[in-house]
Amino acid sequence: MYVKAVHLGLILRNIMMNNRFAGKKGIPEYWYNITADFPEMYVPSIDPATNKSVTAESLSKIYPESLVEQELNTRDRFIPIPEELLKMYQTWRPTPLVRAYNLEKYLQTKCRIFYKYEGVSPIGSHKANSAVAQAYYCKRAGFKNVVAETGAGQWGSAISMASAFFGLNSTVFMVKNSFDSKPARRIMMQTFGAEVLSSPTNRTSVGRDILQKNPSFQGSLGVAIGEAVESALNDKNTAYSLGSAMNFVCLHQTIIGSELKNQLESLDIKPNYIISCIGGGSSFAGIAFPFLPEKVRRKWDLNFIAVESNAVPSATKGAYTYDYGDSARLTPLSKMYTLGHEFAAPVIHSGGLRYHGLSPLVSKFILDGHATARAYSQLDIYNAAKLFAKCEGYIPAPESAHSIKAAIDVAAEHKNEEKNIIFCLTGHGFFDLAGYEKFNSGNMEDSSSPNESIRESLEKLQKSVGISAYGQETACASAVSGNTGFDSWWDKHFGGQQEERNASFAVSTGQKAVRNDLHNVLTEKKISDALRDNQTEIHVARSCVITPLAQELIKRSGIGIKYE
Ligand SMILES: Cc1ncc(COP(=O)(O)O)c(C=O)c1O
Repeated sequence: MYVKAVHLGLILRNIMMNNRFAGKKGIPEYWYNITADFPEMYVPSIDPATNKSVTAESLSKIYPESLVEQELNTRDRFIPIPEELLKMYQTWRPTPLVRAYNLEKYLQTKCRIFYKYEGVSPIGSHKANSAVAQAYYCKRAGFKNVVAETGAGQWGSAISMASAFFGLNSTVFMVKNSFDSKPARRIMMQTFGAEVLSSPTNRTSVGRDILQKNPSFQGSLGVAIGEAVESALNDKNTAYSLGSAMNFVCLHQTIIGSELKNQLESLDIKPNYIISCIGGGSSFAGIAFPFLPEKVRRKWDLNFIAVESNAVPSATKGAYTYDYGDSARLTPLSKMYTLGHEFAAPVIHSGGLRYHGLSPLVSKFILDGHATARAYSQLDIYNAAKLFAKCEGYIPAPESAHSIKAAIDVAAEHKNEEKNIIFCLTGHGFFDLAGYEKFNSGNMEDSSSPNESIRESLEKLQKSVGISAYGQETACASAVSGNTGFDSWWDKHFGGQQEERNASFAVSTGQKAVRNDLHNVLTEKKISDALRDNQTEIHVARSCVITPLAQELIKRSGIGIKYE
């Protein structure tokens, strides 16, 4: 009788799962809307023209109605995915969940490491998940053209492909630096029929203005967004499409996390760490958000880690405040972690992470303590990418390599525990081989935290927007809550005894302050820094974890390690 009841329960549960998440061929049939479950996550953006929350009417100037509805929807937990889109998703979904056995073996860790591989989409990354949805809604609303910006070229490829699927014309403003360094991506977009322009261009007043001030400007996502938004505002047949940050983009990407839930459930595995990189934050939202109810309501031992570049460290060093999404100030003001819309992001190979802001939903998720953020340097992540390629065969996009680096560090931190670590391998790096060539030949420069330019940019933001102009926010995250002014935030964050919110520390200590002079986690980067400073010995805490790559470097260099 009992066995029968359990059996029936399982059948019923499977039927419900099939209806909601498992869907045909295991593809979820619903997107998950986090703001219905956690209303505090929704912080409305502000229309600078009215100084009030953005309305559907103002957003409808550049977005189709259905996307505007999704953007503002805090009511429906599950949003059905239209049948036509489900059919398209079947081209590459469900994406594989792969166990990284060789990497685990190499790291000699008891942790299980898995990756959700989004690189199998036709254009090679998770960006396709939102692109087909956005093109579908644009077509349904009667738009003829779609205009977009692209950093690394992934979003541009995705929206060009999706526009071709639905017979829409597409124009892509590609950040100049990527336009010059990534011809393969440009050719890919052109093959889909897109017009690809090197941003800044002379076609928009945003571009002309920048070029007049600085003719050799290498471009930025903030400027490219401004050019694309201006083009959409000037033509009623043209819709703007954004590849990240917006609530509806995060919503579309939840197909990753919901699908992952199915896969883990069928394997009877509960995740302990879920990791993704953050540019605008959509892949992180996509893989993490569907799991928040399990963490908060079912008290799962689950940690979320958002990983960024230390060259563009919005979540670890930015202010949590209202800012524009673009440099030209054409977008609404969103409350988010930001480095300021005038922040001149250093050129790095992870073009998709060179964005001054972060999705308001992901920012609030971090601010509320559901996730920690880590920042890594360019050499850190290429080291990790190369190790991953040698162990697992896939050459990751440099953006995705940030997550790999974090997964490796977490596996080292929990070397003797059986933790389940899952990261989102957002895309492949087949078109990023120039970066790998530089790295392999030892010609790659490391990136570093541009503290002074962050300061300048945030000071400008304070003057132009007013860091506390829109209410109670404190600058820079829960770690410094209580401060209200820019100066006190600055002192706390960059002055004196700075606690870097680089999560090597934050995660291992549950966000508590750690003395920076005694290492708890020793990475190869810290050792190379010490070697560069001619140190012969490094002092570490008794409980310090030394990552495998660090161990190798210790052996090679002969540097002494002193436990205290
Ligand atoms: C491969 C890849 N991963 C990650 C990102 C970051 O985007 P998001 O933060 O929206 O996930 C990008 C952006 O272009 C990308 O191309």
